[in-house]
Amino acid sequence: MSFQVALNFEDGITRFVECRPDETVAEASYKARINIPLDCRDGACGTCKSLCESGRYDGGDYIDEALTDDEAADGYCLPCQMTPHSDLVLRIPSSSAAAKTAAATHTATLVDITRHSASTVEFALDVDDRDALDFLPGQYVNVTVPGTDQSRSYSFSSGPAQGQASFLVRLTEGGAMSGYLAERARVGDRVEFTGPMGSFYLRELTRPALLLAGGTGLAPLLSMLERMAQERLTHPVHLLYGVTTDQDLVHLDTLGDYAEVIPGFTFDHCVAAPDSTARNKGFVTGLIDSSTLYDGDVDVYLCGPPAMVEGVRSHISSLGITPTSFHYEKFTPAAVRQTAEAA
Ligand code: FES
Repeated sequence: MSFQVALNFEDGITRFVECRPDETVAEASYKARINIPLDCRDGACGTCKSLCESGRYDGGDYIDEALTDDEAADGYCLPCQMTPHSDLVLRIPSSSAAAKTAAATHTATLVDITRHSASTVEFALDVDDRDALDFLPGQYVNVTVPGTDQSRSYSFSSGPAQGQASFLVRLTEGGAMSGYLAERARVGDRVEFTGPMGSFYLRELTRPALLLAGGTGLAPLLSMLERMAQERLTHPVHLLYGVTTDQDLVHLDTLGDYAEVIPGFTFDHCVAAPDSTARNKGFVTGLIDSSTLYDGDVDVYLCGPPAMVEGVRSHISSLGITPTSFHYEKFTPAAVRQTAEAA
C-alpha cells in the first residue's frame, strides 16, 4: 500500500510520487529522482520545511529549531521526517529545476471535438499512458498545437479520476489553437502536452466555498466539482458563472447534474450583454454579497480574465470582507496562466 504525494514547486510545476506509510516523503521523492531541498535529513535544520495543504501524516521527530509548534499547527512539515497517513499535497519551497525535475510530457490521441457554440469548443484526449498522468483538480497543462511549434495553456475540465482529459477553448480570431480546432483538427490526431502546473487547485474543503468563473474559466471549476462529486463533499458550495454573451454559456446542464449529486452545491449565472435572455444581466459582482461570502468564512476560487479577477477582488474588498482563503487564476486570450492566492 502506498499514498500519492503531490509536490507543488514554486514555479507551479507539480510532480507526484508514491510514498509508503513507513517511508518519509523525502525518501520517496529521492527514489523518484526528485531532489527536494534537504540538508541534515534528521529534523534538525529546517531546510526541507514545506507546507502541507491537504492530507494526514505523522510529523516524525524533530527539534523546535527546525519546526516550531506554531508552524506545525499552521500546516508546515518536514518531508525528511514525515510519513503519510493519506494522500498529501505539499508546497515545496524551491523551483522544480532546483529539485532536478521538470514538467512531465504526455502524448495522447484526440478523441472528441465538441462545438458548444460559435465561441466555445471542448476537446478530449485519450492519454497514451493515463496512469502516468496525475493532476490536482484546477491545474493546467501546456498543449502543443498540432502542426505548429506553439503551445497554449488549458485547464482540465475533466476530473483527475476520469479516463479522458478534456479542455475548454474560447475561439479567438487568429488564435493558434482556435485555427487548428476550427480548420484542421480531426479525431485521431496526435497531441502532446506538458504538465500539470499551477497553484490554482482545490484545497481540502473545511468550510463553505464560493467558486467564480468567467467564460472558459469554468473549466478548472468543473474539474473541482468532479472531485467534490466523487468525494461527496457536504460543505455548502456556490458557483457563480459569468459570460459576455448568451452563446458563451456552456455546461449549464453539467452544473445541473452536479447539483443533483453534490450535497450543498448550488449555482447561478449571469450574462453581461444587454440583449441577453438570461435572468441575471451584468457581471458576477452583482451576485456577490456578504451572504454568498458567508461573512468571510469561505474559501474563494476564482478563474477568469484579468479584468474580472480584479473587479471581483475590489468588489469583495469594498464589502469590507476578507475571505479565509482566496485563490485565483487569470488567463489572457493567449491563454497564459497567472495563478496566485491572496489572504
Ligand atoms: Fe534538515 Fe529536514 S533536512 S530538517
